[in-house]
Amino acid sequence: MLRQRFYATLSPHYLQGELQSLYHWCVQEIHGWSRAEVYSRNEEEVPEPAQGTWESVMARLAEFVPIQYIFNKAPFFDFELYVDENVLIPRPETEELVQLLLDENDGKELGVLDIGTGSGCIPIAIKKARQNWNVSGCDISEGALNVARKNSDLLKLDVDFYHADASNMGELKGVDIIISNPPYIPVDRKETLEQNVLEHEPHLALFSPESDPFYFFRVITQLAEKSDVKSVYFETHATEMDDLLAALRPLWPGSIRLAKDIGGKERFVVLNIEESKSKDPKDVR
Ligand SMILES: C[S@@+](CC[C@H](N)C(=O)[O-])C[C@H]1O[C@@H](n2cnc3c(N)ncnc32)[C@H](O)[C@@H]1O
Repeated sequence: MLRQRFYATLSPHYLQGELQSLYHWCVQEIHGWSRAEVYSRNEEEVPEPAQGTWESVMARLAEFVPIQYIFNKAPFFDFELYVDENVLIPRPETEELVQLLLDENDGKELGVLDIGTGSGCIPIAIKKARQNWNVSGCDISEGALNVARKNSDLLKLDVDFYHADASNMGELKGVDIIISNPPYIPVDRKETLEQNVLEHEPHLALFSPESDPFYFFRVITQLAEKSDVKSVYFETHATEMDDLLAALRPLWPGSIRLAKDIGGKERFVVLNIEESKSKDPKDVR
């Protein structure tokens, strides 16, 4: 039976809980069942006309190819993105980063730039929620930009995607807010990554240059400061926050604030210039 074969083939590679959700995902994609059907028809044997498809999907899963790349789909907010190996698979924490920005900024017209946009998940979610904003995304990877443009076309959203190297960007015009989930893993920590991430997600999206985890936080903060940007929203890893704050303080004249993710970890860093005009700049922790 298909289910048994799936579990037997992949149980050396995945935990039981992971296998169940992978199996459900495959049934939905290969047989077109809805999510509700997958659960309500849980006891039913899945028909096996798509033999070859199941075999090739199992072979790729056994090589730890993320299922999002196999089916070229990843959920984000209330929509689905096209993804392939040119882009990082969008993470749930990044949805939280976008929600934080939306919660803290009302509907008045703003210009927002996402630096290191990957699949375009961030600016696309923002544009969907704030149609009157001028939203753009940039990336050094042409492969990623092709994916981001494909996504904005599929979703019929007017987001401008352009090529740029964050290390070398001129003064920005018309940008009130920068948002970024930049690469921040030092190369010497690559052993800490899961095999599916290390072997399949783009290293350009994962690793910070010169093994400096704060590299992009510094260059983007300097860019924001010279461009009169009002706020910066960063996502980062919830370690070494004190060192990160210490690195950014000399570069930013306004306030620097940390925000926690849903698991209670300090994960987001928000730089704001307006607070400093009304009161002394201070870090809030
Ligand atoms: C961690 S991924 C984030 C992708 C997407 N924003 C997300 O949250 O899923 C970082 C992105 O930064 C891009 N990147 C790496 N170096 C860059 C550079 N020097 N300038 C601009 N973008 C860069 C990578 O190509 C990658 O798409």
